[in-house]
Amino acid sequence: MDRYAVIGNPVAHSKSPQIHAAFARATGERMVYERLFAPLDGFASAVEAFARDGGHGLNVTVPFKLEALALAGEVSERARAAGAANTLKRIGNLWYADNTDGAGIVRDLTANLGVDLADKDILLLGAGGAARGVLVPLFGQAPRSVTILNRTPARAAALAAAFVDRGPVTAVTPDTLGERQFDVVINATSAGLVEEIALPWPQGLFRPDALAYDMIYADAPTTFLRWTRSQRVARSADGLGMLIEQAAESFFLWRGVRPDTLPLFALLRPGA
Ligand code: ATR
Repeated sequence: MDRYAVIGNPVAHSKSPQIHAAFARATGERMVYERLFAPLDGFASAVEAFARDGGHGLNVTVPFKLEALALAGEVSERARAAGAANTLKRIGNLWYADNTDGAGIVRDLTANLGVDLADKDILLLGAGGAARGVLVPLFGQAPRSVTILNRTPARAAALAAAFVDRGPVTAVTPDTLGERQFDVVINATSAGLVEEIALPWPQGLFRPDALAYDMIYADAPTTFLRWTRSQRVARSADGLGMLIEQAAESFFLWRGVRPDTLPLFALLRPGA
């Protein structure tokens, strides 16, 4: 059977094995999908050992997404734009690196949540790797604007400058934001992931019918989604759909088959 795995440090919490096992069952693909723990200084050797053992593909999670891009012999355009890879596919004797995170969030927003992003004003909170990875896929939906707000303004300005040739992106600070409001507000920060904190964002960011989207997924409501409730946001979603859709996109890259993602929501969030 063809071998796949998710590689990370830590990796024990990853839902990818459960997701891909369900995709394989539903599509009849003959494959196994494991968890691979790599030491912090041992990513490349773990990946090579996996290839020697006949590994066909990997999902890459924290903190190895940059290293995954660096070791690949061939890189997709979207992984290059993201500056990171979450998916590796063995082709001949080299690794092909891709990034399916951006496609995953766009698909969750548009297909699952029914949001047409065309002509919308989008606010992206954060300017790290997660924010960078979604910019070009968001541009592909023809939004009116993508605005970046970050705790450290210089990073927001640098990210916007790096992508200004590719789409309608600008950086703001709480001072230059003024009274602007947004249709979609995406949390691409790690704020509140480890401990509960007060978020540094201004009041009044949301239009009356706005969607708040957290790229973080957790079993309990995330810090960001709890904050959006206090802002009386019309609709909100966490990153479960993004997690499922990026996995489906990786599965498609590896197997050429697009799995139905709907059953995964019931599997991973029973009773919702
Ligand atoms: P990732 O690859 O997950 O994006 P990262 O590159 O470390 O990780 O970026 C983390 C993001 O979360 C950054 O935008 C960071 O803001 P700074 O650039 O100001 O560091 C943001 N972040 C982390 N903790 C935060 C907090 N307590 N409040 C607001 N933003 C926070």
